[in-house]
Amino acid sequence: MTFVVGENCIKCKYTDCVEVCPVDCFYEGPEFLVINPDECIDCALCEPACPAEAIFPEDELPDDQQVFLKINARQAGRWPNITEKKPPCPDAEQWENQPDKRQHLPEDVLTLLDEQ
Ligand code: SF4
Ligand code: F3S
Repeated sequence: MTFVVGENCIKCKYTDCVEVCPVDCFYEGPEFLVINPDECIDCALCEPACPAEAIFPEDELPDDQQVFLKINARQAGRWPNITEKKPPCPDAEQWENQPDKRQHLPEDVLTLLDEQ
């Protein structure tokens, strides 16, 4: 199993999650973080640490966010590792829980949405 960063991280990116991860398995894109499923040890520390409640255990990922499993796995190999907390995205609080945030992902990630 792995934990998965879901849609509500987009345009928030609070990064509290990276502070608690014992194996440093978060990777950073421009608007969003992902978890490397091959490195995650399922410790569950990141889930309650996220103010946006954006992180799920794989088996509790909502049906409409299943594509984020693929997005986390692929982008973890493409984006740089992040191990320290940094300031969130501008207007993060306003973006929290907004619908359809996935449209703001980078172009190469959006192609995965087309493939689902
Ligand atoms: Fe890191 Fe644990 Fe979260 Fe996996 S479940 S990403 S190991 S904090
Ligand atoms: Fe994103 Fe939550 Fe981490 S908003 S950066 S998953 S703390």
